[in-house]
Amino acid sequence: MTPGNADGAPAGLERDAWGSRWGYVLAMVGSAVGLGNIVRFPFVTSEQGGAVFVLLYVVAVVLFGIPMLLTELTLGRRSQRSVVGTFEELGGGHWGKFGVALVFFNVFVMSWFSVIGAWSLIYVWEGLNPAYWDDPTGFFFSINEGPVTLGFHAVFITVTVGIVAFGVSKGIEPAVKVLLPLLGVLLVGLAVYALTLEGAMEGVRYYLEPDFGVLSAGTFVAAAGQAFFSLSVGFGALITYASYIDRESNLSTDSVTVGFTDVGVALVAGFLVFPLLAAFALLGTPEAAQGGIGVAFLALPNAFATIGGGLGVFLVLVFFGLLFVAALSSSISLMEVGVSWVTDRGVPRWKGVVLLGLVMYGLGIPMAFSSGLLDFAAGAFTDTLLLGSAFVIAVFLGWLYRGKLGEDPVVEMDRGASGFRLGLAAFWLIRFVIPVVLLGLFVVAVWTLVGDVGALL
Ligand code: PHE
Repeated sequence: MTPGNADGAPAGLERDAWGSRWGYVLAMVGSAVGLGNIVRFPFVTSEQGGAVFVLLYVVAVVLFGIPMLLTELTLGRRSQRSVVGTFEELGGGHWGKFGVALVFFNVFVMSWFSVIGAWSLIYVWEGLNPAYWDDPTGFFFSINEGPVTLGFHAVFITVTVGIVAFGVSKGIEPAVKVLLPLLGVLLVGLAVYALTLEGAMEGVRYYLEPDFGVLSAGTFVAAAGQAFFSLSVGFGALITYASYIDRESNLSTDSVTVGFTDVGVALVAGFLVFPLLAAFALLGTPEAAQGGIGVAFLALPNAFATIGGGLGVFLVLVFFGLLFVAALSSSISLMEVGVSWVTDRGVPRWKGVVLLGLVMYGLGIPMAFSSGLLDFAAGAFTDTLLLGSAFVIAVFLGWLYRGKLGEDPVVEMDRGASGFRLGLAAFWLIRFVIPVVLLGLFVVAVWTLVGDVGALL
């Protein structure tokens, strides 16, 4: 068997490739920047001690997130294959099963991610509808589950399918070149507006005021968990994206660029959310206390409704447009994980995309009808699977790679890097520190999951 057809790909199969380095870095940033930055980060920060949490989060990104990014990029670039082909080729036959599990994991994540993307679309669509303006809280509960949600879930999947069907260089790359600059403009524009509101500084204080009192083991867990989810590591999405780059690209700089851009976006999202809440006396209200989803879909819409008029409508369109763009640039990476597997096996891309889209749609149906189920799927269940898969990926590179291939992983990590090289430091963290941290987090996540299952029954 030649390396070229390790996972059953026809020999000589022409794989798609990124057209430019800029395009692939944007695509990775697009995958990383998502609901985790805009919806989840600001809320978790205010809850977990403000600036103290931000500091821990940055440390988690540097010590765990960036080395994991480098690991995934190294694996994908080395194999030039889908996640299934990567693990089969670099680890041996049975490792392919782990790759298949990663594909299923991404399909599952997409099934709930798409429903939240669908909510954002509904707000963009219905921003002009008086039902929304009279009672924003009631409006959310009228659209968060049911047939309308299901309809927009189909729309969200269809848009994703439409982009991914065109391939990496003709679909994903041109899409992110439009989506990411748009995201930047919407985000910064909204934050600047929010910071000029009266009372904005009270929001900033609420967001960032250091509170050492809340520091506990849970804070560390939250910081590390947020870092993994937000950077998209542990999903295999970055392995997939990296399989379309050439073997001489500089992965050290790429990992740092993606890591810090993701942190930057999350921080700016906080400067958008909290000044708005403070200016409209929504800090600490029941709406704002219901997690990130509550802040984005209940509290902020109340602020926009209070502003009202043309400006209110405009802000609804901009904020939910921003959420939609952020979700879409992530969902295309969730979909590409499975699509690259089937195309590596010689299935035409469009067939694979449509098939996967249908499966994702089907799996999302129960979530579109039960937000309780969605909460469960998006919370402890995803966290547990994510930490488990990140653990396996770290152990794979740290302990198994050299034995199987007789290659030095550090050389592979540093290939193409000139000057700035992260390989050695990242490798030692991946080998000795990160698996221990991930195992600890995994135990906590399973514990939470058991509690949540109990609550669900
Ligand atoms: N990183 C994304 C976010 O912050 C979530 C995601 C993970 C998206 C994996 C794609 C792949 O929302």
